[in-house]
Amino acid sequence: MNKIAILTSGGDSPGMNAAVRAVTRAGINFGYEVIGIRYGYRGLIEGDFVDIRSSDVSGIIQRGGTILKTARSERFMSAEGRAIAANNLKEHGVDTLIVIGGDGTFRGATVIAAEHKIRVVGIPATIDNDLIGSDETIGYDTALNTAMEAIDKIRDTADAHDRLFFIEVMGRHTGFIALETGLASGAEMIILPEEIKNIDEIKSSLSEILKVHERSTLIVVAEGDEAGGATKICGQLEKDFSKYDMRVCILGHIQRGGSPTAHDRVLASRLGYEAVKAIHEGKSEVMVGVINNECKITPLQETFGKIKKVNLDLLSMARILR
Ligand code: F6P
Repeated sequence: MNKIAILTSGGDSPGMNAAVRAVTRAGINFGYEVIGIRYGYRGLIEGDFVDIRSSDVSGIIQRGGTILKTARSERFMSAEGRAIAANNLKEHGVDTLIVIGGDGTFRGATVIAAEHKIRVVGIPATIDNDLIGSDETIGYDTALNTAMEAIDKIRDTADAHDRLFFIEVMGRHTGFIALETGLASGAEMIILPEEIKNIDEIKSSLSEILKVHERSTLIVVAEGDEAGGATKICGQLEKDFSKYDMRVCILGHIQRGGSPTAHDRVLASRLGYEAVKAIHEGKSEVMVGVINNECKITPLQETFGKIKKVNLDLLSMARILR
């Protein structure tokens, strides 16, 4: 019987479990044996393999995190580590690997596929939404909603005290979460890595906002922002805006947890199924994604490396609507 191995790697994202469930059940349906690899590439190197049956993925569609666990593996970055990983796959009679993760995961998959003739298919799952080849990645919608709800709560306390808050959201290289949560929560200012501003520009924009704005003020900052994240920006503004009561709130890893939204569960189910279908059709070194609500296949190496663009028109609109 043909075997498919599946792993989750890099930062977890809500909906990974729904994708594992979909791959398992679609795989079994297509006649494959499904093997789970725990702890991502680290587990691939350490031989942490487990058989997955249909019943093993019962009751996980609604759970955040990943039942397969995840890790970031330094060792997999070396040729020696990848050779051990490839050998472990071969010893288990597996030549096909489905990887669920983000850009680092896909980089690793591309290299092991080329070096060791392993068939790989990627499923995009990262809250950062920074992969080309899918309008959205699994977990992004949940992270947006988690961050938005948190920002709504900060608005209540900010309003009560007439305070100015710098709220940092995740997004290592891109500002997808900052842009959409900023817009959805009616933030007065959104600072993105895609629109690099120096501190003087930030000061003058803030002064303009505060001239007409008398209530609480929320500034959503993407963690990856070149200006240096919320803490640094706030520190640099303290002197000039000393009459304001300022606070910093870093939302951090709460954005990665929680039960996936319906949107992420459906996306993960579709992509898990499509990944198995792609394998069944003999495809390899591709990522499955959804573009304009249709499932699409993109060569794996085209999905990372280039920056996926945020819609800066939304930023202009947010400035009019604030
Ligand atoms: O890539 C997902 C992500 O959550 C980024 O937004 C963030 O910069 C990073 O992972 C945090 O990684 P770690 O959990 O290893 O601290």
